[in-house]
Amino acid sequence: MARPEGNGKNQTILIVDDEEVILDLTSIILRSRGYQVLTASNGIEGLKIVEASNPELVLLDYMMPGMDGLTALKEIRHRFPETYVIMFTGKGSEEIAVELMKAGASDYILKPFNNQNLIERIESVLRVRAVELKNKELMLERERLLREIESWNRELEARVEEKTEELRKAQAEIIQREKLAALGHLAAGMTHEIRNPLNSIALFTQLLQSGLNDPEKQEYTEKILKEIDRVDTILRKLLDVAKRPKFEISDVSVAAVIDGAVEFFRSQTDTHRIVVEKEFRKVPPAIPADANEIEQIFTNLIVNSIHEMKGGGTLRIELDHDDRDVIARVTDTGKGIPKENLAKVFDPFFTTKASGTGLGLALVLRIVKSYNGRIEVEKSDATGTTFCIRLPLAGR
Ligand SMILES: Nc1ncnc2c1ncn2[C@@H]1O[C@H](COP(=O)(O)OP(=O)(O)O)[C@@H](O)[C@H]1O
Ligand SMILES: [Mg+2]
Repeated sequence: MARPEGNGKNQTILIVDDEEVILDLTSIILRSRGYQVLTASNGIEGLKIVEASNPELVLLDYMMPGMDGLTALKEIRHRFPETYVIMFTGKGSEEIAVELMKAGASDYILKPFNNQNLIERIESVLRVRAVELKNKELMLERERLLREIESWNRELEARVEEKTEELRKAQAEIIQREKLAALGHLAAGMTHEIRNPLNSIALFTQLLQSGLNDPEKQEYTEKILKEIDRVDTILRKLLDVAKRPKFEISDVSVAAVIDGAVEFFRSQTDTHRIVVEKEFRKVPPAIPADANEIEQIFTNLIVNSIHEMKGGGTLRIELDHDDRDVIARVTDTGKGIPKENLAKVFDPFFTTKASGTGLGLALVLRIVKSYNGRIEVEKSDATGTTFCIRLPLAGR
């Protein structure tokens, strides 16, 4: 197919005929028109030459001893579809013509033929062949391009998806930051305003209490003081979430913090038949941090996990690092966080527990953020929940 086509130059025609005279005569005519000519005196020999030389065209006699013309025609068209065939036939019957065309002949020429007619028919078939082959090539090219477009499309779609996900995360992060900032202002002002009068209430209640003899009334004041204490605890926790309390930076081994936290909860995990698995893929180097804050991250996550697995389960803590971050994962086999709650679990006061404060994860988020880290619910479904935390190795 790579051979340039047209005007006989460089085009090869094979003549297969058992009559020597026909071979000689036809060869002379075709050579004089600039074609390369090959000859064979029977079908088998002809096929071998087709295989070796890939001629553009074969002039094939219908009536030959040995392999007959029709069989040779079918064989050539089947095995070498780019080689076209014109049949020579002595009989001019319609049926034979139809049969030959059906078997793949491009044309048929009645013997005896005149030279001009032979050349015209050959040139016409070669032109058709050139167009058909070009067409086929274009079709293949078209299919190749379609496949290429498809694969580009797939790649583009994947990239759009990836960018969309990045955007979603970035937006979620902005919202988290805004919430934290707003909470900071609100909580700082509010706790100040509430704690002062609360202090006075406590003081006066204590004064009242010391002058009371009635044990029933003493019990009431006791209850008031207890409630005041509860409110104060919530306010203190809220303040912790909103504003960073005093902190002390030292080299903190996250692995050691995790070990400590797991030990701290040992009796609880044992009681609830929770299997604890630790997988430290790579122990990260110590990071500059406040040990107490890092501890809070894990204790709050573990407390929540244990709460979800009161009937037993597996608590899995993984630790790893890359060249930027310490990466920790806390996974439980609890019942998961419902989709509609996912965006809210880090919000202060969001809780689904009867006696929850909803401040645990808010505090964890505040701490992680103060180290320029990230936290996300990486997975949460009916099989459990995974929180993933990243803390920069360089501290903040
Ligand atoms: N591991 C977990 N599995 C399922 N739900 C969780 C998990 N951790 C947190 N949650 C959900 O997030 C809410 C907020 O958690 P948190 O801030 O620690 O507050 P609290 O524990 O006081 O409810 C929980 O009430 C619970 O609905
Ligand atoms: Mg909690």
